[in-house]
Amino acid sequence: MNRCLAVTVAALALTSQVCYAYPRGLSTARVLARAQDAEDTYDYVIVGGGTAGLTIADRLTEDGKTTVLVVEYGELSSSPLIQTVQGGFMGMSSPQFMYDITSVPQANLRNRTTPVLAGKVVGGGSAVNAMMTVRGTAEDYDRWGRFFSNHSEWSWDGLLPYFKRALHFAPPDAAVARAANITYDAAFWGNTSGVYAGWPSFQFPTTALHVAAFRGVPGVEFPPDSGAGEPGVYWFPTFMDPHTVARSYARTGHYDPAANRSNYHLLTGAKATRILLEGTTATGVAFVQTPANATSSNFTSTALPTVVRARKEVVLSAGGIHSPQILQLSGIGPRKLLAAANITAIVDLPGVGMNFQDHPMLTAAFMYQNFSVHPSSDDMFFNATFQTWAADVWAVNRTGPFSIATGNAAAWLPFPVVSPQRHASVAAALAAQDHAAQLPAGTDATVAAGYRAQMLAYATALRNNGTAFYNSVLSGGAASGVLVDLHPLSRGTVHIDTADPLGAEPVVDYRALSNPLDVAVITELLRFARSSVMDNPLTAGFAPVELVPGANVTSDADWAEYIADTVSPTEFHPAGTCAMMPRELGGVVDEQLRVYGVSNLRVVDASIIPTLPGANTCQTVYAIAEKAADLIRYGPKNGV
Ligand SMILES: Cc1cc2nc3c(=O)[nH]c(=O)nc-3n(C[C@H](O)[C@H](O)[C@H](O)COP(=O)(O)OP(=O)(O)OC[C@H]3O[C@@H](n4cnc5c(N)ncnc54)[C@H](O)[C@@H]3O)c2cc1C
Ligand SMILES: *[C@@H]1O[C@H](CO)[C@@H](O)[C@H](O)[C@H]1NC(C)=O
Ligand SMILES: *[C@@H]1O[C@H](CO)[C@@H](O)[C@H](O)[C@H]1NC(C)=O
Ligand SMILES: *[C@@H]1O[C@H](CO)[C@@H](O)[C@H](O)[C@H]1NC(C)=O
Ligand SMILES: *[C@@H]1O[C@H](CO)[C@@H](O)[C@H](O)[C@H]1NC(C)=O
Ligand SMILES: *[C@@H]1O[C@H](CO)[C@@H](O)[C@H](O)[C@H]1NC(C)=O
Ligand SMILES: *[C@@H]1O[C@H](CO)[C@@H](O)[C@H](O)[C@H]1NC(C)=O
Ligand SMILES: *[C@@H]1O[C@H](CO)[C@@H](O)[C@H](O)[C@H]1NC(C)=O
Ligand SMILES: *[C@@H]1O[C@H](CO)[C@@H](O)[C@H](O)[C@H]1NC(C)=O
Ligand SMILES: *[C@@H]1O[C@H](CO)[C@@H](O)[C@H](O)[C@H]1NC(C)=O
Ligand SMILES: *[C@@H]1O[C@H](CO)[C@@H](O)[C@H](O)[C@H]1NC(C)=O
Ligand SMILES: *[C@@H]1O[C@H](CO)[C@@H](O)[C@H](O)[C@H]1NC(C)=O
Ligand SMILES: *[C@@H]1O[C@H](CO)[C@@H](O)[C@H](O)[C@H]1NC(C)=O
Repeated sequence: MNRCLAVTVAALALTSQVCYAYPRGLSTARVLARAQDAEDTYDYVIVGGGTAGLTIADRLTEDGKTTVLVVEYGELSSSPLIQTVQGGFMGMSSPQFMYDITSVPQANLRNRTTPVLAGKVVGGGSAVNAMMTVRGTAEDYDRWGRFFSNHSEWSWDGLLPYFKRALHFAPPDAAVARAANITYDAAFWGNTSGVYAGWPSFQFPTTALHVAAFRGVPGVEFPPDSGAGEPGVYWFPTFMDPHTVARSYARTGHYDPAANRSNYHLLTGAKATRILLEGTTATGVAFVQTPANATSSNFTSTALPTVVRARKEVVLSAGGIHSPQILQLSGIGPRKLLAAANITAIVDLPGVGMNFQDHPMLTAAFMYQNFSVHPSSDDMFFNATFQTWAADVWAVNRTGPFSIATGNAAAWLPFPVVSPQRHASVAAALAAQDHAAQLPAGTDATVAAGYRAQMLAYATALRNNGTAFYNSVLSGGAASGVLVDLHPLSRGTVHIDTADPLGAEPVVDYRALSNPLDVAVITELLRFARSSVMDNPLTAGFAPVELVPGANVTSDADWAEYIADTVSPTEFHPAGTCAMMPRELGGVVDEQLRVYGVSNLRVVDASIIPTLPGANTCQTVYAIAEKAADLIRYGPKNGV
């Protein structure tokens, strides 16, 4: 554990020493510094210039005619902290580019609170994330459409064309791929997007050893490509432009190239406060603009409110935390919550801010005592000679280990493989559970019905091999430790602060482990993490030891204590708070992402995800946005 922490701290320290100038000016960007420079009316007004918002804006303005204004709270920044791929953590460690939100104390986690990380900068999450470029399994996406019918376009087949449109796949260097045994299949990818899925020019041979070790675990598959929609152990790319070896994200892919379009405007430093409604038709957006150089703490008190009108539609893309907040501030949400905040309910939509999900992160640390292979990722922290070499080749031509962000290999495994003994009993317990009792008291019956539908779908998934529940990133170091629960059963809430709805950030409650079966699932994930390292014929030669929690943690009760002490409720993938579900299942948007009960208003971002995919969420958000752009432009018939 100490070593893992040391590694993380060292990673931050090391990477921060090796900054470089990134030569991109802002001269071509049509960024509107002042609200008075905006037009009165646009065809579309998009709230949030993040991952989804910029993708949609780019597609809608492609025709050169359709006018779009993006209203973004954050700044347009070319900071090296955002551009650099080194370590993959620099953007998120800069408070300048992050919202300052802390969760409420988590009752099942010893009342611990946790930072709620979300990007506050042009590019949103895509500007600050760890650049892991992954998508879920086919079953993850088929599950979405099935909440509506067996013929929905929200399915793996329906989304695959949009996964392809979303990213430009640039294959790994052939020699690196051969040395590390990286397989890929370009059939699952496209090559037209301005957002790149690239590969570092270096891999530690130890990462390949970590991958190969899973051949000693029964039932583990090795899909041919990370985009194949299959669980297993595989290599995956990085959100990186291989030409610049810098972060490739919504700003570089969907704003910079389009910035020359006179029909694409971006207003920065502008915080949307409300959707303008005439009756139940969305007609525009109200926002306040930050005075130049104001910090967020003195933002609202000095800012002037302004409005802009949308001729056709308003698109809400403020992300999983802020899209529900803006709907609620606009009078669209649970009636009781709005009443408590003195907001007149325009549409009583109980699902807004409910169904909140994120991927819990878990810790179980192991170390290979006899891991003498060189180089390993540990050399980046503990070997000065290697570090010097790495820094030198990076300085010369941006090659070498510094071109690695968070890494490119991981295990994504289904529950029967993780828990041959218990998967059936956990699934049966979930199917038989009193589902409504797992939700906050007073939850609307439609929301409870939707939760029940989700849990029944998960009970099926727990029994089969089509959905990944277990994730561990393969670091290429002697120590390993971070695991992810890919399908949490608990559901939280994101609601306006009724004491100060407009001024305060929303109240974020993960309600982590509120469904006790999450503890049962996580216990099996942690037991598997132990056995896959400690009882594996292919790792025995490395003399593994368990650092955390320690071999004396064995019974269900031991694990439950350890889980309450250590689980993090977030992997920074907030989702589900404006769920695409039928209205009678507590949904907020329909299959065209239109808000129920309101005309000319869609939500397009991570908040529409009904059930999390078993993967980090950025690639999925890009695909959702690409599909939404077609739905907006062409309607549902041609929108496949
Ligand atoms: C630290 C971190 C690490 C991550 N690592 C990975 C990873 O390695 N791989 C991966 O696939 N995913 C990762 N993710 C998740 C992924 O980046 C997000 O799921 C995705 O970017 C969300 O896209 P979005 O469009 O829903 O929201 P965002 O991209 O967050 O966009 C929302 C935008 O709306 C703006 N906004 C919010 N409120 C307002 C308002 N009132 N007015 C105006 N603008 C507003 C925000 O400033 C932001 O720009 C990570 C996320 C974080 C935060
Ligand atoms: C958590 O906080 C609640 C409310 O303040 C309190 O009742 C409870 O005892 C606390 N639990 C722990 C473990 O501290
Ligand atoms: C969808 O198909 C399954 C069987 O594949 C069936 O059990 C279910 O009832 C169908 N759902 C709907 C809404 O038609
Ligand atoms: C892009 O993909 C298409 C279809 O797979 C392929 O025919 C073409 O050669 C690719 N172009 C490049 C530059 O890779
Ligand atoms: C390399 O990958 C191939 C295909 O997945 C597999 O058959 C082979 O065993 C792997 N080799 C090693 C050394 O892991
Ligand atoms: C899932 O995979 C495991 C391991 O290969 C196998 O034993 C089991 O039968 C599979 N289950 C299903 C439902 O296919
Ligand atoms: C912007 O558009 C003008 C006119 O169409 C063109 O001459 C110019 O080259 C474009 N600039 C960029 C950076 O694309
Ligand atoms: C904002 O800060 C920048 C950089 O510090 C400075 O150049 C600029 O003049 C400031 N603008 C205002 C209006 O204070
Ligand atoms: C905002 O707050 C900072 C720090 O408290 C202060 O220096 C600055 O003058 C304030 N700006 C405005 C516009 O009020
Ligand atoms: C440190 O790195 C150098 C250069 O790559 C290598 O020769 C040496 O074996 C490494 N030392 C250890 C202890 O691995
Ligand atoms: C990068 O520079 C290093 C050190 O000069 C050199 O060995 C390597 O071949 C270069 N790689 C590329 C792809 O140019
Ligand atoms: C709501 O209205 C009541 C009664 O006028 C008042 O006491 C309360 O402070 C108001 N709350 C907010 C958040 O404005
Ligand atoms: C395991 O051993 C450690 C160290 O001796 C101790 O702190 C911990 O309480 C023990 N845990 C259990 C479940 O026995």
